[in-house]
Amino acid sequence: MTSQFKTRIAGVGSYLPEQVLTNYDLEKMVETSHDWIVQRTGIVHRHKVAEGEGTSDLVVKAAERALKDANLTAQDLDLIIVATVSGDYRMPATACIVQTKLGAKNVMAFDLAAACTGFVYALHVADQFIKTGVYKNILIAGAENLTKLVNYKDRETCILFGDGAGAMIVSRASNTDENTVISTHCHAEGAHAELLWFEAGGTKIPFSQEVLDSGKHFMKMKGKEIFKHATRTMAAACYEALDAGGKTPADLDWIVPHQANQRITEAVANQFEFPMEKIVSTVHETGNTSAASIPIAFDMAYRDGRIKRGQLILLTAFGSGLTSGSALLRF
Ligand code: UT7
Repeated sequence: MTSQFKTRIAGVGSYLPEQVLTNYDLEKMVETSHDWIVQRTGIVHRHKVAEGEGTSDLVVKAAERALKDANLTAQDLDLIIVATVSGDYRMPATACIVQTKLGAKNVMAFDLAAACTGFVYALHVADQFIKTGVYKNILIAGAENLTKLVNYKDRETCILFGDGAGAMIVSRASNTDENTVISTHCHAEGAHAELLWFEAGGTKIPFSQEVLDSGKHFMKMKGKEIFKHATRTMAAACYEALDAGGKTPADLDWIVPHQANQRITEAVANQFEFPMEKIVSTVHETGNTSAASIPIAFDMAYRDGRIKRGQLILLTAFGSGLTSGSALLRF
């Protein structure tokens, strides 16, 4: 199908909660050490929401920055997509709470659950709405409040995750605009769902006293297995995006990968034969913020001048599901 329109990234923004949880703080909570965490993950600290701060609050702050960057207001939005696995409520969607807090009118708003690949999924979906001419301006956000959902008795997961939100405004490009989304790809492999999940607390195993006592409502992960899948799927997704866009790794200015573990990023760079200097890495200061990690990393590199308009950028992610995906764009 030939698309009628193209999508451009009109604005970018992010927000990290003020409170910081250091590796030294974690040493007091579980049997771990600052040195182990840095060596095995690259993480030095992660941010943590304040009491009463919800995922929607994080999204609103990131979205306001992205709207300002795009020189648009909430009134210009047609659609809000919030990628998250840690929304304010099971119902309604966090995107609806964001709609009212932003003061957006006449929008469609929904949440999207693809875990750490959520933001790439959201971009993929938004791109379809723009290409088909249905909408002109879409807010896509990745946001997580994971410090509320990890078990601070499980040292394999609690050291990894942090809170935050990142957002982009994606808009219909003008006919002459060369800075557009080139290709997006998304995948799912549900056979591996149990490698990273919240086993209980859903409808399959609802909340009960037994669930609360066993801690099965907290995030559970088979870290080594996830690590292997991550390097395989992210590298494959990179090639898929480049092939579709008729580009090679040498054409890229930056890769912005999902920020899960510095060793995963290095392994992907190795498999992909790509220089680490051209990969945006923020995991040391954010930890793994799941769906928020790519837009936060993108925004940080944009704000500090590394990422510039006109550059060719590849986003790549993997996560629970298992999901994976990539997006190639001229920013
Ligand atoms: O967005 C997707 C989300 N998930 C991920 O990206 C996670 C991917 N996986 C990982 O990042 C890594 O597998 C971990 C960081 C979770 C673990 O690192 P690892 O190098 O795979 O460690 P390991 O599981 O092989 O464990 C090595 C040792 C074990 O001790 P023994 O059996 O050798 O005595 C663990 O019990 O390290 C121990 N260990 C820890 N030690 C100190 C595991 N977690 C910790 C910890 N502090 N926090």
